[in-house]
Order: sequence, then C-alpha cells, then structure tokens
Amino acid sequence: MLNKIDDKTILITGGTGSFGKEFVRTILEKYNPKKVIIYSRDELKQYEMALQFNDKRMRYFIGDVRDENRLQSALNGVDICIHAAALKQVPIAEYNPMECIKTNIYGASNIIESCLKMEVGEIIALSTDKAANPINLYGATKLCSDKLFVSANNIKGVLKSKFSVVRYGNVVGSRGSVVPFFKKLRDSKAEFIPITDERMTRFFITLNNGVEFVLKSLERMQGGEIFVPKIPSVKILDLAKAIAPEIPHKIVGIRPGEKLHEVMIPRDDARHCKEFDDFYIIEPTINFNSPIDYSYTLLNEKGKTICDDFEYNSFTNTKWLTKDEILALLEQ
Ligand SMILES: NC(=O)c1ccc[n+]([C@@H]2O[C@H](COP(=O)([O-])OP(=O)(O)OC[C@H]3O[C@@H](n4cnc5c(N)ncnc54)[C@H](OP(=O)(O)O)[C@@H]3O)[C@@H](O)[C@H]2O)c1
Repeated sequence: MLNKIDDKTILITGGTGSFGKEFVRTILEKYNPKKVIIYSRDELKQYEMALQFNDKRMRYFIGDVRDENRLQSALNGVDICIHAAALKQVPIAEYNPMECIKTNIYGASNIIESCLKMEVGEIIALSTDKAANPINLYGATKLCSDKLFVSANNIKGVLKSKFSVVRYGNVVGSRGSVVPFFKKLRDSKAEFIPITDERMTRFFITLNNGVEFVLKSLERMQGGEIFVPKIPSVKILDLAKAIAPEIPHKIVGIRPGEKLHEVMIPRDDARHCKEFDDFYIIEPTINFNSPIDYSYTLLNEKGKTICDDFEYNSFTNTKWLTKDEILALLEQ
C-alpha cells in the first residue's frame, strides 16, 4: 500500500489538541515518520504531551500561527503540514471576532506563505461543517481559510506544493464538545440536561475516523480538493438519552450562531462535487494553474457527478446512528 508518512518530516499546527494527539499517536504506531513536529502556543500542553509521547522522533515548537517568521523556521525541511490549529468555540468567536479572524484567517494565510517559501510538499487544512453556508463567525473564518487553501494551488507557480482541505462534522468527545459536557452533567448528577432544540441534528465522526480520513486524503490529494467523508447523523436528544437516560431534559432554546441542522456540502456546491464510495470531493471553482481531473483520486478511485439539487445536510442524511451505535461510540 502507498504510504505518505514513512521517512517524512510532518508538522502539525495545533498538535496538542484533540485531533493532533490522535494523529500523532496513529502515525507513530502505524508508520515510521522521520520526525514529527508539534507547533502550538501553550508550553504546559506541550510538556504534558511530551510526557505522554516519549519518542525520539518527536519535536515540540512553541509558536503561534499568527507569527509568519516563526512558522517559516519551524517548516524548514518539513515534507507534510497538517494545519489543525484554530479557535473553534462559537460563542467565544462571536465575542472576540478579531482574535478568531487573526488565528483562523491570517493564520491560514501565514501557513500558506510559509509552506510555499519552505517548499512543503503536501498541506492539509482541517475544516468543519460550520464553514458550509456559515452563520457564525467561527464558520465564516473557516470558510475563508478553506478558500485560501484551495486557491493557494493557483499561486504556487512551478512549486510542487499541493494544498487540500478536509471538512467534517462534530468529533465525538473532542475538547469542548457536547459529549464530555453531557457526561459531566451525568456524573455530577445534574437536575436536567439542557437541550437547545429537540429537533437539532449533527454530523458525528470519531477522532480515529477523522485521523484515518486525513491520512487517506493525503494519499488521494491532487491539490485543491475539499474532502468530505460520508458520516452518520445523530439527534442531540438521542445523544442525551443515551448518555444520561435517568436525567430529565430541559429545552433551553437555540444559542446565538447555532443552526438547527448542519450542512457539509451546500446545494450551490453540488454542481462541482464528485461522489465516491464513502466520501465526496468539492472541486475548486477556479482550476486554471494546472487543470486537474477531480473525478479520479491519486488512489485511482473513480467518482461520479451528483445531481444539482443535492445538499449534504445532517437532517436529510441517509445514515443515522442507532442508540446501540451511539453507546458503542461512547465506549470508544
Ligand atoms: N473538534 C471538532 O468537533 C471539530 C470538528 C470539525 C473540525 N474541527 C477542526 O479540527 C481542527 C482541530 O480541532 P481540535 O478539536 O483538535 O481542536 P483543539 O483540541 O481545541 O486543539 C486546537 C489546537 O490549536 C492550538 N492553537 C490554538 N490557537 C493557536 C495559534 N494561534 N497558534 C498555534 N496553535 C494554536 C491549541 O494549542 P495552544 O492553545 O497551546 O496554542 C490546540 O493545540 C480545528 O481546525 C477545528 O476547526 C474540529
């Protein structure tokens, strides 16, 4: 099997986060990277991670994605960059918009400029369903970030660098997500579980599946794709019932910047989208540097065109988690 990781130097921005740690654990266990560099701001998280991953191939760089000079020196000699650093809490982004813009948009631009200067080969930026038809600042900044990464392929000139995006939904159990929140309420024997709206649905993916999808996208990418995995939906009410069956629910109303249902592929993107067995590719709208046929991946998979009025929405999704599947996921 093709393997992009062996003998390569990989830098992960936001490598101390939920995704970063699982990504590092996976590549150290399953592959043989030459060097793995963590790039993030907080020394304590790095110190704790260094205790957890006691491996000679690991390097820890303190740095901010807002700092282009630091990024450039960190990316010297790097083959693959996975960009996971972000501010991602919706209400915090609404309250501190410029901070979110500086990290998620200027940070994305700094990564692109630095990867081009340092001639990094493959770059994957993580995105979210909140970037599709965004209604909150977090989603809007991630949409800008997606646009920057996709269009970076048009400014690379003769360089071999390839930039792609991986977009998925809620990660079960990641920092600050609904699962640890509900579990905490259950463990503290709360009086009720707050439910914003009983109709609310979300896309769900496990951390492990997210990491595997990013690794697969590295093998598949030609540059310019937004890769979207086919993943199940869940009703938030069913999730609460599965985590804390004994605790009653209280409807507290939808929060500012929240959607009732999430969209991963908006209807207006369907016309430049290809469907594969277990994922979609949203093609770039402008593809003039080196016209690429996105109906194939570099793993030689063949995709098909989808109808114009298709929308990949957590409510109209055809895959749903059953109660037993939710319980099994929570066990993981
Ligand atoms: N979790 C989800 O449900 C979900 C779903 C879809 C997409 N995503 C995307 O997946 C990516 C990773 O998410 P995650 O759940 O792993 O997030 P996380 O656990 O909050 O980790 C974020 C990481 O980014 C670092 N970071 C934040 N600001 C930074 C900056 N200015 N410069 C450098 N590093 C910075 C943080 O470390 P320091 O604070 O030490 O810098 C932390 O290591 C994000 O891009 C997110 O948008 C997440």
